[in-house]
Order: sequence, then C-alpha cells, then structure tokens
Amino acid sequence: MNEGQAAKHKAMTESSSRRDFLLAEDSFSRLDESDDAIFYETDRFVQHLDSLALSTVEEIIQELVIEETPVILDLMAGWDSHISSSIQAQRVVGLGLNRNELSRNEILTDWVYHDLNKDPSLPFPDNTFDAVLNVVSVDYIIRPLDIFREVGRILKPGGLFLVIFSNRMFEQKAVKIWRQSGEEERIVLVEEFFNRSGMFGIPDVFVSKGKPRPKDDKYAHLGVPSDPIYAVYAEKSGGEASKRPDLSLSWPLTDFLDQGELERRKAAVKDTLRCPHCNHGLLKWELPQNPFTEWDMEFMFVCFNDTCPYLVRGWEVMHRQGNTGLSYRFAYNPDRDHCMSVPIPNLDALREGISDD
Ligand SMILES: C[S@@+](CC[C@H](N)C(=O)[O-])C[C@H]1O[C@@H](n2cnc3c(N)ncnc32)[C@H](O)[C@@H]1O
Repeated sequence: MNEGQAAKHKAMTESSSRRDFLLAEDSFSRLDESDDAIFYETDRFVQHLDSLALSTVEEIIQELVIEETPVILDLMAGWDSHISSSIQAQRVVGLGLNRNELSRNEILTDWVYHDLNKDPSLPFPDNTFDAVLNVVSVDYIIRPLDIFREVGRILKPGGLFLVIFSNRMFEQKAVKIWRQSGEEERIVLVEEFFNRSGMFGIPDVFVSKGKPRPKDDKYAHLGVPSDPIYAVYAEKSGGEASKRPDLSLSWPLTDFLDQGELERRKAAVKDTLRCPHCNHGLLKWELPQNPFTEWDMEFMFVCFNDTCPYLVRGWEVMHRQGNTGLSYRFAYNPDRDHCMSVPIPNLDALREGISDD
C-alpha cells in the first residue's frame, strides 16, 4: 500500500469506527452516572414484568437449560431467578448488587456481591457453568463486550448464555444506546454483543409479544398487551453439536388445531363467518379508501380476537421472515371466498375500519 492509499485506508477506518455504534464514545453513558451500588441498595421486592411475561421467561429457561444437574449463574440477579423447580440444579449462583434481595432468593445456593460496571471480570474460574442467565438487566451494562467475553470464559464449552429482556427499564441507569434503540434494534444490539465477543456460536432469537395482558394486572385497564419478551441466546464455542431445542418449533405457545380440522373450518368460513383458528366471530371491516392502496373490494371479514393463536404466533413467524415488529390477523374476502391475512404493526391497527353493520 502506498502512502496515499494508506492515508485513505486510515480515513475510511476512522470514519467507519465513528459510525460504529458500539465504538461511539457515549453509547454507554447513562443519565445517572452515580455509583450503581447506591441505586441498587434500595430493596426492590417487586416483579419487573407482568405475570404472563414472567411465566414465559420461566418456560424459556426451562426449555433451554437441558443439562440434568446444571451449574447455573444468574448474572445480575435479584430476589427471583425465574428458574423452575423442575430444573434439578447442582448449584445456582447469583451475582448482583443488593444483598437483601440475593440472600432472600430461594433458588440460589450461593451469591456474590459484585459491581460489573466497576470490574467486568467475573469472580469465577474458567469453564465453571453450564448456563449463564441474564434477565431484564443487559441494558445496564456499560462494557458489554468485556462481560460477554467473561461469560464465555466461565461457561463450559457448549454452555448456554441466555439473555432475556423486555421493553421496561430503569431509565436513569440504562445505557444511552439502549434507551435510543427501538425494541427490534435491541435484538440486533445483543446479537452484536454475542458476535463481537468471539466466544459463541451464532445467536438464536425468540420473540413472544402481543399476548393479552392478564386481567388482574395493575395496567390491564390501559389496554396494553402483556410485556414483550425477547430472548437472545447462544452456546459457547467448542462444545458438541447442540441438543437444545429450537424454541420456535417446540414452544407451547398456543394450542394448534390439527390440519384437517383447520381446513374444514376454512372451507366453512363463508357460512360460519368465524375465524378458523380461534372460532371467534369475524367482524365486517371496511377497507381504507385512499390513493395508495388498490383494493378491488369494499369490505372483508377480519378476526379481531387479540388472543387468536394465528395472531399471537404471527409475531414470531414474521420475525423469522425478517419482518420484525409485525404480525397479522386472519381475514376472509367474501367476493372471492378466499382466506387471507392482513399484516398489523400493533393490536390497535385496523380497528378504525370495523363497520357497525
Ligand atoms: C431490573 S433488576 C433485574 C433483577 C433480576 N434479574 C430479575 O429478573 O428480576 C436489575 C438487576 O441488575 C443488578 N445490577 C444492576 N447493575 C449492576 C452492576 N453494575 N453490577 C452487578 N449487578 C447489577 C441489580 O442488582 C438488579 O438486581
């Protein structure tokens, strides 16, 4: 490379580093830069998610931790580790910043008080754990690459690192890049932490969102859905071929009809006007008339049941197809006697078109 080329290369590298969100200087700044120990010394014996989302977290952990008697680390633990009693753990270690919460966490066999943002090295020997869990906490880490590398070091080869998050946070302690990202961008961010640490296989992603909020939840009256759950996980490189299940295939999210029954119901929609997936009555829906859409009919019949398995499962299916942030409702076109789907970005979409007829 001659001098001119070298200078050009240097300028390009510098400019791409400047654009690299992980390297940008203040990506991991926080609104409250005071000592984390002060913020977390207040006991918080609360749940950070609604009960349905919490049961999803527990099920994900139960599905993915497949070792018979695993040694588990709950990284950034509080008083509840969301580990089902059906997991016969040999040892569960908690690491966090509140002694009262850690000491009252019943599943922990031992715990460590340790500030990851002051010292990202983890106080455990190499190849110690079968699984490291991090639940609703990755947003508070200011040196994620160091931490992910450390998790790689303390996991056994083939061990699982499971990072689960939602969309709620302590705003003042979350890093800037997390606060400024959308929910789908945060998935990419965590995938980047895995990839750039160089310690893991290709991370997998599981999304559970759009389920109705439990009726007894304190925010149920607001009409918002259950807290979304995002799981990004990978095994430490160097292990045997993975035996962990593909969550998107094994997940007991919904009771699916057998294919024959579904086809019978679809064929009968013109008479029943019921959703073949959930059996709820379809509502007449007037298509938006504007210059940007070209519908050749005036109305369809749409399933507006927010718990319809077709819709609930749709968030995950669309995510897998690269259409993150979308699901779809079942729709029936009476002009063509045709079953179809209409994409939606949220549960409120399309509702303005519901006809009174
Ligand atoms: C939102 S709570 C989540 C607790 C728990 N994982 C759960 O699912 O309920 C965040 C947790 O991260 C821990 N934490 C926050 N900052 C930390 C730090 N700098 N070092 C270690 N732990 C930290 C706190 O102790 C707190 O328990």
